[in-house]
Formats: sequence, structure tokens, C-alpha cells
Amino acid sequence: MTERIFNFGAGPAVLPEPVLEEAQRDLMALPDVGMSVLEISHRSKTFDEIIGGCEADIRRLAGIPSDYRVLFLQGGASLQFSMVPMNLLPAGGRADYIVTGSWSKKAVKEAQKSGTVQIACTTEADNFNRIPAQTELRLDPSAAYVHFTSNETIHGVEWKTEPKTGSVPLVCDASSDIFSRPIEVGRYALIYAGAQKNLGPSGVTLVIIRSDLLERVPKNLPTMLDYRVQAENKSLYNTPPVFGVYIMRLVVKWLLDRGGLEGIGRENAAKAGSLYDALDASGGYYRPHARPDSRSHMNVAFRLPSEDLEKKFVAEARASKLDGLKGHRSVGGIRASLYNAFPKAGVEALVSFLKEFARKNG
Ligand SMILES: Cc1ncc(COP(=O)(O)O)c(C=O)c1O
Repeated sequence: MTERIFNFGAGPAVLPEPVLEEAQRDLMALPDVGMSVLEISHRSKTFDEIIGGCEADIRRLAGIPSDYRVLFLQGGASLQFSMVPMNLLPAGGRADYIVTGSWSKKAVKEAQKSGTVQIACTTEADNFNRIPAQTELRLDPSAAYVHFTSNETIHGVEWKTEPKTGSVPLVCDASSDIFSRPIEVGRYALIYAGAQKNLGPSGVTLVIIRSDLLERVPKNLPTMLDYRVQAENKSLYNTPPVFGVYIMRLVVKWLLDRGGLEGIGRENAAKAGSLYDALDASGGYYRPHARPDSRSHMNVAFRLPSEDLEKKFVAEARASKLDGLKGHRSVGGIRASLYNAFPKAGVEALVSFLKEFARKNG
């Protein structure tokens, strides 16, 4: 078999090996079906079982209450930046947005095209290195909803608990930390996530929405952008991302087998903890971007003493089979993404590599 290297990429990202193996084994023909999952009809009994099974397993994994709908959409999390306000922000209404990094900024930019956006808080003055305290949020009790980004993939800051919004519906972009730890879905009105970090391949977006919000959806939205149409048609109004849903189903099964969200949450905390410990023990050679209380378990962003050293670090790491460590082009530096499927052995390899790099280049 072709050798696999450690993939620290931010997304699309590493998938569990048992998932890739099963998909590879069954790619020519699904057992007892005789056709590839890439070839079957989305209206077939086989796909019914795949999408129904995927939803049932997601419900079990995250303990999703029965008054929530689970949707499998397309257009990425970026389309949700538009769909959320189109569906949930009534004419003349206002929505509160909490801005903690580049992704929440993008969400604001799209929402502004649909209606009035209020910035409840922004940490931009601190270069997005922290999650705000509850007391910093200027929340409007009559807002249509509050939007936040549970994990900022580029800046590597992550909420430890949800912002408290009273009776105002809470909407979350969870693209880069969904199902990485236990979640109480009942606290949210809507959760969305592009699949390509923790859930599967790109091309499918998971949306979990409380049913009563569907009543707010205005009439005459473009059909494909209407949550109510998608819910009424069980995500099958048109051809859904069949392969993406199939892989997501395998990933969710893998998570259930691994001890569910409690189990994976412990593993993720341990993986990220050992990397941050190594950075903190470097005597300032490596400087994590996020403040300690806001550090992401999914994306560990840090700097070296100079940009030249950062370039050298990325190139030498790549040669040592540690790939995808270059920080996002907008902030530079190094970023190690440690999603659910990223193995502990890869973190250990990076920790040894970075100790040796600092010793040689200190
Ligand atoms: C937090 C967050 N939100 C939104 C997006 C955009 O996702 P997509 O490429 O699926 O539109 C990303 C992509 O990296 C992300 O990390």
C-alpha cells in the first residue's frame, strides 16, 4: 500500500483509516448491491438506508432531541453564512454576531447583505487571540438570533462553553470542531458545519435546526436555500451529495465505536495538551497565538522567532512526513490541525520534531 504521512492540514483533512479502508473495499460494489456508492440512485432503497442510518447515528452520537431536524446540504459552511440570515432574519429585524476571527467576519459580511447585523463583540483589536468573556457581549434581547463560531480555524481560538443568550436563539458555525467533544444540542437553535474537517469529505454540510425555527422561514426564498423545503424533503429535494453522506455515516459510526463524544473529547484534549505543553516548554522559541484560556483543541497556531525560520520549519517538517503545517495565508506562522481522526502518533512525531528543530536553530 502507498505510505500515508501525517496530515496536519486544516481541511479537507485526515479521515479515519478504517473509514478509508471500508470505502476502498466497497467502492466497486456495495455488499449485496452490486453497484458502487458512486453509481446508485439517491432515490434507491440503498441510499435511503445510508442517509437514514447516518441521521440516526448522528442523533445517537450527539443526543439530538426529537424536535430538531438534521439536514445534509451543499454549498459548504460558506453558503450557511447566507442561508442563516435569509431564513432566520425577518425584514426589519436585527441579528447579533460575535466576531472572534476570520470566519465569523465572513459570516457577518454575508449576513449584512440580508439585513441588519449588530456586532455584539469583536476581539479584532487583540488580533483574534482570545474568546470574549460573557460580560463583554452586548446582546440585544430582541435580536432575531445570536451567531458565533465555536472554533476559529485560522486563529486557533475555541469557545469552552457557549455564550449565554437567554431566550434569543443561538446559531453556531461549528465547522472545525463539530463532534470533537460533548455538546448539548438543546442549547442551540441551529448548528452548521462543512464536513471536511471532522465529519467526512468536502461537498456535504450538516445542519441541525430546531423545528420551530422553520416557521420563521419567509415565503419565496430560492427553493434550494429554503430550510423548510430541505426539511420537508428530508434533504432529498434534489440529488444530495451521496458519496459525502456515505462517508459521513462511516465516520459517525467510527466515532460511536470510539466511545462517542466523551471518548473523542478526552483524546482530543490529550493530543492538543501535549502539543501546547511542548510549545510552552520551549522557553519562548515557539509562541502560541491563542491566549491559554482560549486555545483550540483542533487548530494549534503558533509562531517561531522569524518568518525565515517558519519557512524552514515547514519545509523540514514536510521532508519528515509531517505535512500541512503552514499557517493560513492571512496570518502566517505554523498551524497544526488535530481533528478527531488525527492520530496521537502524529502529535508525538511533531513534538519530537519541534524540540529537535529548536535545538538546532535556537
Ligand atoms: C469555521 C469555518 N467556517 C466556515 C468555513 C467555510 O467552509 P466551506 O469551505 O465549507 O464553505 C470554514 C472553512 O475552513 C471554517 O473553518
